[in-house]
Amino acid sequence: NIVADKRTKRAEREQENMRDRILPAEETEKQRAFMDWVRQNNDDCERTSGVRRRAFVLTFGCQQNEADSEKIAGMCESMGYVMTDRAEEADLIMVNTCAIREHAEEKALSIVGQYKHLKAKKPSLIIGVCGCMVSQEHRQNDIKFRYPYVDFIFGTGSLHRFPGLLAEKMQRGKRLYCVDAGEDAVAEGLPVRRESGYRAWVSIMYGCNNFCSYCIVPYVRGRERSRKKEDIVAEVQGLVAQGYRDITLLGQNVNSYAKWSDWGYDFSDLLRELDAIEGDYVLRFMTSHPKDAGHKLIDTIADSRRIAHQLHLPMQSGSDRILHEMNRRYDTAKYLETVEYLRRRVPDATLTSDIIVGFPGETEEDFAATLEMLRKIRFDMLFSFIYSPRKGTPAAEMEQVPDEVKGRRFRELLEVQNEIALSRNQPLVGSVQRVLCDGVSKNPALFSGRNEGNKIVFFPGSEEDTGRFINVRIERAEAFALYGEKEG
Ligand code: SAH
Ligand code: SF4
Ligand code: F3S
Repeated sequence: NIVADKRTKRAEREQENMRDRILPAEETEKQRAFMDWVRQNNDDCERTSGVRRRAFVLTFGCQQNEADSEKIAGMCESMGYVMTDRAEEADLIMVNTCAIREHAEEKALSIVGQYKHLKAKKPSLIIGVCGCMVSQEHRQNDIKFRYPYVDFIFGTGSLHRFPGLLAEKMQRGKRLYCVDAGEDAVAEGLPVRRESGYRAWVSIMYGCNNFCSYCIVPYVRGRERSRKKEDIVAEVQGLVAQGYRDITLLGQNVNSYAKWSDWGYDFSDLLRELDAIEGDYVLRFMTSHPKDAGHKLIDTIADSRRIAHQLHLPMQSGSDRILHEMNRRYDTAKYLETVEYLRRRVPDATLTSDIIVGFPGETEEDFAATLEMLRKIRFDMLFSFIYSPRKGTPAAEMEQVPDEVKGRRFRELLEVQNEIALSRNQPLVGSVQRVLCDGVSKNPALFSGRNEGNKIVFFPGSEEDTGRFINVRIERAEAFALYGEKEG
């Protein structure tokens, strides 16, 4: 914890010297020229061979990575590729990786391993690996030595350099590594290809300075930097005008938005300005850090017109001792106070959280304290994770909890939470929920959507409901879903 705390302090000092930085226009222009070159090359290829080259983007990890992948796909399209969802028919494969837990890395490496056969069949295939996993030195070496058919890699801070790397690969054929640009600057104006026509991600800041002792993110995503309010407002205005109905602002800790700037506004100010945009849409954001989510934020939600009555507030543990070891910098009293204020100001708010089970040194008492907090707070939904040691983080060096203990506690936690989730959903039976429909679901013959609290709702619908707000009268509740009929 002392180590983690030192890292936080150092990060903040670095930040003082750096401030929020926007990538210079010349750099963006340079990349645009590379995009034009690749497009030319792809056009020439179609003229001579009659086939248009295809690109495939595979994404692991969180919403931030999904948002990054939409930019990668946007750049691919600008470079003349047609997007495909089949790796076998691609001429360019991009794998955007995650490093949050061991399992995420194993999955990415195993897929990259499978692409060896594709490359053997089609030697002209270009494979790029990017994102959080390859922002770690030992993973860069893994790719270098164990996956020699990977053509280039770039880290999270170098996303905007993708066209330049691809162009260089095509021109010179050498393997390329662009992992430590050390720029930590915000690149505006990259093309975006959004997966959905009615739900959108909008990154408002990048990086993390918090150095929670278990977490790899600050190492692989660099220092915090924010986008300017004008740029975000313009993007959201554009989305609303295009008919987007559900807009989620993204950042690892949205509450420290613009913290390192001298711009004179904060996250709540940004929210207020976005809330004033006219249109029929819902505004969400994630993630809030309990140490920074204060009354101003909650008041902003309460007083807004479009901000969903919903908060994702990762608690991680219900033991003060463990919270301290995690370098979270709040205690359960502070957390409870925030929840009480939220429930007073926004009584219908949906509250969700993240919990880590089996953090090093977690005792039965610590775990019992977590269960007690769950029973006291009664979250609508919980994302729970078994602690996974991450190389280079302080917690990985601490005394580990045995796997079978972690597994047992994890199952116990799920059991407790299932009951709570059901009890949170049951009172909604009989109510009418406004649901943004996502189309037909895997649940046979039912359509699905999300209500304001982001809860999943199933109902008999029709194709034209997709992308629209539908009123659904809830008839039945389960722990993870609501069921109902369309109303009116
Ligand atoms: N910035 C967000 C979380 C990003 S990671 C926040 O601070 O809340 C999403 C979740 O993954 C975390 O909330 C945490 O619960 C979990 N997580 C992070 N590192 C982990 C690790 N090493 N092992 C298990 N779970 C982890
Ligand atoms: Fe990781 Fe979130 Fe902590 Fe940052 S605030 S170190 S992303 S858990
Ligand atoms: Fe994974 Fe990176 Fe997100 S580590 S969870 S993709 S910030």
